[in-house]
Amino acid sequence: MSFRPQPSPIARPNRCQLFGPGSRPALFEKMAASQADVINLDLEDSVAPSDKESARANVIAATRSVDWGNKTLSVRINGLDTPYWYRDVVDLLEQAGDRLDQIMIPKVGCAADVYAVDALVTAIERAKGRGKAISFEVIIESAAGIAHVEEIAASSPRLVAMSLGAADFAASMGMQTTGIGGTQENYYMLQGGVKHWPDPWHWAQAAIVAACRTHGVLPVDGPFGDFSDDEGFLAQARRCATLGMVGKWAIHPKQIALANSVFTPSDAAVAEAREILAAMEAAKARGEGATVYKGRLVDIASIKQAEVIVKQAEMLAG
Ligand code: COA
Ligand code: MG
Repeated sequence: MSFRPQPSPIARPNRCQLFGPGSRPALFEKMAASQADVINLDLEDSVAPSDKESARANVIAATRSVDWGNKTLSVRINGLDTPYWYRDVVDLLEQAGDRLDQIMIPKVGCAADVYAVDALVTAIERAKGRGKAISFEVIIESAAGIAHVEEIAASSPRLVAMSLGAADFAASMGMQTTGIGGTQENYYMLQGGVKHWPDPWHWAQAAIVAACRTHGVLPVDGPFGDFSDDEGFLAQARRCATLGMVGKWAIHPKQIALANSVFTPSDAAVAEAREILAAMEAAKARGEGATVYKGRLVDIASIKQAEVIVKQAEMLAG
């Protein structure tokens, strides 16, 4: 480890973030009753321009009227390139109930975008004497966002989570696809005449994970658009979990259980991690730093790997 220790992200369940348009208040009670850890009420791209004001009012009312249980309640504001975002922030901070936990800032392109929202939020919190500091999450979904991902991850002490938004990201990058996440037909390798499909989202996800882990922020994968394709969702979610992400969005309720299943360490994985820790304890007692577990090397780094899984399981159980 560097002389500068790696900060821990906030210890909260973030396996599934369920989205719903702020213009469909009939969904809010269903969202609250779901098994998602985080609720994202949307004011941005799932809301038509003509509905922006009514959606804002619906969302503010729902922070007070709906029982959100122990979920994290987050509202996605409009982007800083629109005429809507400042009113989203002002009305939310002035009028939303204390149950509001978080604001999601979309299409963040540089640390100054987060700074601007932070300045406004901080002023209103002070003016209104709001009891609870609002936290931030951001979406990396542009070429600028991924180019500046590390400064964005370090941009504000309010920042707790960062997601990859595949659709806007693909558009901003000029990628030739209309798919939202998942395998892309034309992104393939040829080996002996046989096609093999690598993951075109991989490098952006890995860059997000590295920036987040450097600065104590939770890395999350965004939407998987084809909600009829459970296996495709699972494949993408499993890749993200393997890379170090802690959760994934659901844009339809049927994706919630899929995300929860992938981002909750399995009993078998937790049992194996505990066995590795026990094997290393025994090795330590013998004065050894490395030993053999099920025919493979485990050493002091294996303790840290196993602890990632055990700590995640304990946090979720707690
Ligand atoms: N949260 C909670 N419940 C939802 C829901 C959501 N996001 N989306 C749909 N449901 C409910 C429906 O009300 C319906 O309930 P019912 O069985 O009681 O009638 C059930 O789940 C099945 O819904 P379905 O008919 O398959 O979906 P739909 O046609 O009503 O809506 C979408 C489909 C994709 C338009 C809708 O799920 C949606 O708006 N998703 C979120 C989009 C979003 O927020 N995008 C921004 C982030 S990318
Ligand atoms: Mg987007």
